[in-house]
Amino acid sequence: MAVTSIHGMWSTRLAFILAASGSAVGLGNIWRFPYTAGEYGGGAFVLVYLLCVAAIGIPIMMAEIMLGRRGRQSPINTMRTLTSQEGRSKGWQLVGWMGIVTAFLILSFYSVIAGWGLAYIFRTATGVFNGIDGAAAGEVFSGLVGDAERLLAWHTIFMGMVILVVSRGVASGLEKAVRYLMPALFVLLVVMVIYAASTGDFAGAVDYLFAPDFEKFKGHAGEAILSAMGQAFFSLSLGMGAIMIYGSYLNRDASIARNSVIVASMDTLVALLAGLAIFPVVFANGLAPNSGPGLIFQTLPIAFGEMPGGQLFGALFFVLLTFAAWTSAISLLEPMVAWLVENLSFSRVRASVLAGVTVWLLGVACLLSLNEWSGFTIFGKGILDLFDFVTANILLPLGGILIAIFAGWKMARASSLDELRLGEGVAYRVWRVLIRYVAPTAVMVVMLNALGVLKL
Ligand code: PFF
Repeated sequence: MAVTSIHGMWSTRLAFILAASGSAVGLGNIWRFPYTAGEYGGGAFVLVYLLCVAAIGIPIMMAEIMLGRRGRQSPINTMRTLTSQEGRSKGWQLVGWMGIVTAFLILSFYSVIAGWGLAYIFRTATGVFNGIDGAAAGEVFSGLVGDAERLLAWHTIFMGMVILVVSRGVASGLEKAVRYLMPALFVLLVVMVIYAASTGDFAGAVDYLFAPDFEKFKGHAGEAILSAMGQAFFSLSLGMGAIMIYGSYLNRDASIARNSVIVASMDTLVALLAGLAIFPVVFANGLAPNSGPGLIFQTLPIAFGEMPGGQLFGALFFVLLTFAAWTSAISLLEPMVAWLVENLSFSRVRASVLAGVTVWLLGVACLLSLNEWSGFTIFGKGILDLFDFVTANILLPLGGILIAIFAGWKMARASSLDELRLGEGVAYRVWRVLIRYVAPTAVMVVMLNALGVLKL
């Protein structure tokens, strides 16, 4: 078993926690969680989401880190190594390949949305939102989204930033980017919540997010539950090998269980804080919680436009949002870059450019779907929406099931015992029950139920 990875290693245990939470915390928490929760009516969605994080997310995160650390390569080659070590079919490499496809699709639209964040840094800084109301904020947003050239410019800049960091390699590139930015984002978010609590409809927001009302699921319960589960996978970066490859750079002596719990808790906390920062503004201004992917871009600017120092503070917020997106995007590109380096002997720089440019091209299709190609839909969705829906709700959970089955059923008990180092105690047994039975069954049932194959 390899002790280190050829791509480098995290220099300290804290570096892993920072990088993994850098991957987890991103647009998924601040952009996607509030708008998805808003689409499905709040509290009931949040409750199902939290259950999914605890019962499915954390065990699968442990499994991914464990597989990564045992294989010490890109997800495809890690699965290849593990299948031969464990005497299993090579077909399991499919997990790695599926992950690469998923990463391409996610990163292509992720970069476009991150581009919105970049654009908003300048809009807030120059005072575009001063004293603005909901309708005007909506217009600024549709002005941006309708302008393909602008979106292209920001998307290109963002992908350039991602390629730059990934091409510099794990320790020098990835680690530095997360060390200071994650804590800063957290502090700013707390300030936003305090502001929202003192000026907006905080009680309404708390009630909306934390009082589960399953009536709101009526008519689309299957899809709502699938979306809550998909959001958990997306937000925790699970099911496509991102956390697996970060695990491959982790030292043998670090505790996988403890790290997973820490990362998942931070990720969840940030999502809840984002909700608490946004919904008070939504309700105080009579906006609709279900206004879709534009939600934070149409609500937070109102708060920035009202608050003292809002120009500076708002700009800072979007800077940090961009950084959060950046540290997640890096983890989406890393698995394919590592694979190109391992299999085709590419230099890191060449691999990053090749993978990055391919993703960029796909991203162009995503951004055009918001304007020039808005008439073109598949299953009633434009390309960007389709990629968002399919990756979070289908591809990541499918990847998650496969990872759970491999870790729980195909890998020898002795191997997971050795890697997790929890001893034979309760913690290991609970993990094993969750990974063997609970996670695969729950994901399968939720997916079949949403498809209408199973009627619950
Ligand atoms: N977890 C990231 C977010 O919440 O923004 C997005 C993401 C990163 C999803 C890496 C999947 C992934 F593998």
